[in-house]
This record gives sequence, C-alpha cells and structure tokens, in this order.
Amino acid sequence: MFAFALACLAVASQAQDRKIESAIKHRKSAFTLMSTYVNRLVQTSEGGRPYNAAQSLEDARAVEFLSRLPWEGFVPGSERGDTRAKDDIWFEEDRFKTLATELQSRAGAMTKAAESGNLPRLRSTIDDLRDVCSRCHKVFRKD
Ligand code: HEC
Repeated sequence: MFAFALACLAVASQAQDRKIESAIKHRKSAFTLMSTYVNRLVQTSEGGRPYNAAQSLEDARAVEFLSRLPWEGFVPGSERGDTRAKDDIWFEEDRFKTLATELQSRAGAMTKAAESGNLPRLRSTIDDLRDVCSRCHKVFRKD
C-alpha cells in the first residue's frame, strides 16, 4: 500500500514537472516570436529595410497579439528548470505585472502609429516599446 502511494506520488510529480516544462516553453516561444517581429520593425525604423506601411502594420499587429501570450507561462514553480527568469517575478509580482501590462499597451500604441502610416511616429512608438523590454529584462531576466 505504501509502495503504491509512493508510486502515485511519483507519477503526480512527473505530471507536474511536465506541466512546468511546457509552461516555460510556452513563454519562451512567445518571446522568441515576438522579438522576430520587433526586430523587423527595428530594422525598418533604422532604415535597414525599406518602409512598407502595410507590412509594418502587419508586424505591429503580430507584436500586439504576441505581447498578450507569454504571461500565462509564468506559473508557480516555473522559476526552476530551463529558464532565465529570476524568481523575483514571484516575489515582486505586482511590479512584473505592471511591466507586462505596459508592454501590451505600448504595443497597442505602436499598432495605432503603424495605421497612421507615419514613419517618424511609428519609430518613436517602437523605441517606447523596446524601453519596456529592456526595463523588464534588467530586473527579471538573468543575463
Ligand atoms: C514583464 C517582463 C518582460 C517584458 C516586458 C519583456 N520580457 Fe522578454 N523575457 C522576460 C523574462 C522573464 C524572460 C525569461 C523567460 C525564461 O527564460 O523562462 C524573457 C525572455 C525573452 C527572450 C528569450 C526567449 C528564450 O527563448 O529564451 C526574448 C527573445 C525576449 N524575452 C524578448 C523580449 C522582447 C523583444 C520584449 C519587448 C518587445 C520583451 N522580451 C519584453 C521578461 C520580459
């Protein structure tokens, strides 16, 4: 009976590990995809890619959508594993959530600027967005 209980515990903890592993994968994938589109916009902004209003709007919309996705992957227990997230996220949850919300609202502003077709305006919203990326990484991501 005892052995059976132990076996059940082991199975439950393996399932829990898998859940945590996939939560970490989820958030990292969202960040990776988001940065693909952010980098394209940065290249456009810096003149490395010709400005195409329709393409930039698509890219901005992708960033806005993706900016909503990483957060559900920050489940309790996922400070351990294949991750560079600092466990401060769970101690300073409000600060982390504020930055996550700020990212989403700046991504929304970037889409609006892309809709306007005005490149200087788009540029300044791209800079505002990247500022949030680096502020959060400085505090909550290991180098
Ligand atoms: C609210 C905090 C926060 C914001 C805002 C944020 N990130 Fe991150 N980012 C993280 C954390 C934490 C990790 C580490 C995730 C992990 O390893 O589990 C990370 C990881 C990443 C990674 C590495 C993913 C991988 O596969 O290891 C990339 C790329 C990235 N972020 C890009 C960005 C970009 C681009 C922005 C802005 C558009 C951004 N992030 C905004 C917190 C943030």
